[in-house]
Amino acid sequence: MTEPDIAYGDLTFQDSHPGQLAAVATLLGLTPPPVDTARILELGCGTGFNILAMSQALPSAHCTGIDYSPVQIQRAQTAAASIGATNIEFRCESIQDFPAPPASFDYIIAHGVYSWTSAETRDALMTVVERCLAPNGVAYISYNTYPGWRSRIVARDILTFFAQPGATPEERVRQSREGAARLIPAITNPDSLYGQTLQAEVAPLLNAPDYYIAHEYLVENNFPTYFQDFAAHAGRFNLQYLAESRLFANSFVLGGDLRKAIDDNAGTDILRREQYLDFLIGCCFRQSLLCHSVAPVSREIEAERILPLSVSLTAEILDTTPEAWRIRTHIGAEFTVDDKPIVQVLALLRQHGPAPVPAHAFIQPVIEALGMHSLAALGGTIIAGILLAGWSRGLWILRADTPSLVNAASPNPLACPLARLQAQQTNRCTNRLHRTVILTPDEQAFLQQLDGTREVAPGPALARLAAEGFLIA
Ligand SMILES: C[S@@+](CC[C@H](N)C(=O)[O-])C[C@H]1O[C@@H](n2cnc3c(N)ncnc32)[C@H](O)[C@@H]1O
Repeated sequence: MTEPDIAYGDLTFQDSHPGQLAAVATLLGLTPPPVDTARILELGCGTGFNILAMSQALPSAHCTGIDYSPVQIQRAQTAAASIGATNIEFRCESIQDFPAPPASFDYIIAHGVYSWTSAETRDALMTVVERCLAPNGVAYISYNTYPGWRSRIVARDILTFFAQPGATPEERVRQSREGAARLIPAITNPDSLYGQTLQAEVAPLLNAPDYYIAHEYLVENNFPTYFQDFAAHAGRFNLQYLAESRLFANSFVLGGDLRKAIDDNAGTDILRREQYLDFLIGCCFRQSLLCHSVAPVSREIEAERILPLSVSLTAEILDTTPEAWRIRTHIGAEFTVDDKPIVQVLALLRQHGPAPVPAHAFIQPVIEALGMHSLAALGGTIIAGILLAGWSRGLWILRADTPSLVNAASPNPLACPLARLQAQQTNRCTNRLHRTVILTPDEQAFLQQLDGTREVAPGPALARLAAEGFLIA
């Protein structure tokens, strides 16, 4: 097996966080293990920053990351030691030989592994999930999908064509980019379906980061799969498809024309409905949740399941007027929100600071702000509906964990040690809610200073770091 030498980056993935996994499972009628004290496993963890960030925000959880690359595990162990992490272990192990006992993990995460490995490793991954997942546990597996990847495969073939076999990984990226840049303007039939597809797929890659080209396009293993084949594969290991980790990516929360098309053509079976959705949108990537086949999943959503969860804002607020708020979600979709109840919740969330707010705390203020006093007895049901609507539009998430962070700085502010470590290398730092925040150069420099030993005068950089959920004291 070859291993690309260009580091994939010390990335973290918001949608893989057990707090979110547990919230989706709760919504679908399961009783997942408490997240704050969970046993969390990440398979193919790379340099480990994803699970390291989780371990920092959940100090009573126990985390394990494995990867068969000694270089990556060494980097993960060094990072963990340098920030004094005690509730995490990194082990250089292959998924095939992972010796953990049955039901020994509450949450299992495999990001960027399933479709980037051999069929043998994919089987081994499912075997580990089947054996090691607790009876009410949840697994997260991300993978590239067809039909979206059908046209990307042509782009992959072209990039690979230009990359010389004996060259270094860096040279191969450069060769592939230069070759593709010369090919695109020379296409003989640019207005044909082929020409347009190629321009759409290849042009964005010319400016993509090296690691992305190396790991998605030049990597030896990249086997996208249809959703239905992934679900069938899980089924052979006594696992069932639960949902997508991003609530808004699920067919069961859709409305409008998309929902009607699915209702009219895909029947009631969830697997057919999800596959049909992928055909409708040209899906190229999924972040699917699995649980044991015997788990009692219920897709009839009830308000009582939402009220014990907490809410945290995930969208960026770009602009506000009294009637409408301009929003950018964490996957970059921009739109205007003008439904009064949703705007009301956004306003309350913004006032509360970054720490998640219990769902039931919204009942009273929203009922009052909307003048719905006569409906106060139905407050819980009304709020659950509003929170579900905003969650399914990507404005906020509901979560089942209690990440350790503070809303306001102390006189000697202390920022998350992992974020301080990240800030030494990059302006993309992970906050305590597991969201990647892009910092200004001033904020990046300032973050590194916040080790709890210095008295710091309030100012815009400190205010932003507090508002973005980087502070733990
Ligand atoms: C594309 S990288 C993803 C890394 C990380 N999960 C992320 O998303 O940033 C795939 C990782 O899986 C690891 N991997 C692949 N096959 C493996 C196996 N059989 N056992 C353990 N690790 C494996 C690789 O070493 C690599 O770190």
